[in-house]
Amino acid sequence: MKLSFEKTSIKQIDADFIATFIHQDAKLFQQETKHLAQKLGTRISAAETGDFKGKEGETSLLYAQKGVSARRILLVGLGEKKNLTPEKYRRAAATAAKRGKALKAKKIALSLPSIEKQAADAIAAFGEGAYLSLYKFDKYITKKQDEKIAVEEIVLCSEQNTVAQTAKTAIPQTQVIAEATYFARDLANAPGNEIYPESLADAARQSAERCNYKATILDDVEIKELGMGGIIGVCEGSIRKPRFIILEYGKPSKNTVVLVGKGVTFDTGGISIKPASGMAEMKMDMSGAAAVLGTFEAVSRLKLPVHVVGLIPAVENMPSGSSVKPGDILRHYNGKTSEVDNTDAEGRLILADALGYAEKFKPAAVIDLATLTGACVVALGHYATGMMGNDEKLMEKLQTAGEKTYERVWPLPLYDEYEKLIKSDVADVKNVGGRWAGAITAGWFLKKFIGNYKWVHLDIAGTAILEENGDYTPKGGSGVGVRLLTEFLKAWK
Ligand code: BES
Ligand code: MN
Ligand code: ZN
Repeated sequence: MKLSFEKTSIKQIDADFIATFIHQDAKLFQQETKHLAQKLGTRISAAETGDFKGKEGETSLLYAQKGVSARRILLVGLGEKKNLTPEKYRRAAATAAKRGKALKAKKIALSLPSIEKQAADAIAAFGEGAYLSLYKFDKYITKKQDEKIAVEEIVLCSEQNTVAQTAKTAIPQTQVIAEATYFARDLANAPGNEIYPESLADAARQSAERCNYKATILDDVEIKELGMGGIIGVCEGSIRKPRFIILEYGKPSKNTVVLVGKGVTFDTGGISIKPASGMAEMKMDMSGAAAVLGTFEAVSRLKLPVHVVGLIPAVENMPSGSSVKPGDILRHYNGKTSEVDNTDAEGRLILADALGYAEKFKPAAVIDLATLTGACVVALGHYATGMMGNDEKLMEKLQTAGEKTYERVWPLPLYDEYEKLIKSDVADVKNVGGRWAGAITAGWFLKKFIGNYKWVHLDIAGTAILEENGDYTPKGGSGVGVRLLTEFLKAWK
């Protein structure tokens, strides 16, 4: 799908469907609808009757007269101007794009409202909301309902000079970031029989080739040689062998950022097996890995001036005669041992090895992303990622990037008192901490394995796997983390 910008008017733009955005404020509403009526040479009856008031989310469909290129014109309400944010623009654009798709338009145009402040963010938001809202994971559906009528192009238009100038650079970047998010969603939504450690590594290799960054894949023998006992242990029950994926973009620097992504391609829970109901969701337990890969696609295609290393431990957590068992003790990359009290707390066991390995790159920051705990979903639901770490400034930077992209993160405390909950009698640490504060005890477990670096842990269990459609985040894998990390790395110095 192509995303572009044209400096032209709503009258001239050639599209199957065009949406235009109207403010609710009385004066603006008057101006905007009057201007539209003039342009289109028709009455805007819905506005005259008060049937359409410009309220947030409100829509009204018009059919244009002769002399106007597009036949269908959708009015989309923006609400009050003083309350407008990029997120509201994303949602308004999503409403528009989805309506265009429902009307089987191949080319959808969005006529932008006048934008005065922070034009780049606003324009990007329109493009992002529209693009991301049209995602569907349908490659396995052999009989497509609308028989191949798919949106091919989204074009934003405005006659405003400043908007056109800004759009020239903002829109191509937005397309890259949206495509990277689609890539992450596709990986997450792909079933476990398509994406397993080896095929995830293949996907990484192909992505690296396509986008011009480096990917090195370690196999099970090399993983064992390195002493990564967590990765080996968790994958022991599966006929699929583990992989350790190492990505690199940019030239080594003092400001290296290491991104670590949990790559459990399917999580049955292992011997501590999960209940059958809802287990299929666990094909998305590699959403952290997908976020890292998506970010690498975005960062390398945008040619950001940063040095980024990506580490993805990839395993399948299965029950079998060879599985790791409760009570087993594993030795991790950095030499520390862990007691496996519950084989379903597998994410932290593989991340422990990756976090130890990260030290090698002398990073200025390490950020891990993991669908780590159900407890985090209980705490924050689907609207915020749980954040823990050892450096306030780094966490603030992520929070800023989160507000900007609306992939919001929210801090949970790693107070010392929680540490004793994961004390083991037989090893350095135990992999579960009992009933309370499950997201935090998981974070504390990871903290035991970090090196001498600034670190943030993002528990994306709630935000990566969605149970319902949002405005521009369809049910299933959300691709969360791609926009967040790309924004973070854009601002990184
Ligand atoms: N992958 C799950 C966490 C998860 C749950 C992600 C729901 C997304 C939605 C993780 O490996 C897990 O099973 N965690 C256990 C930990 C427990 C055994 C301490 C959990 O949260 O129940
Ligand atoms: Mn698990
Ligand atoms: Zn898991």
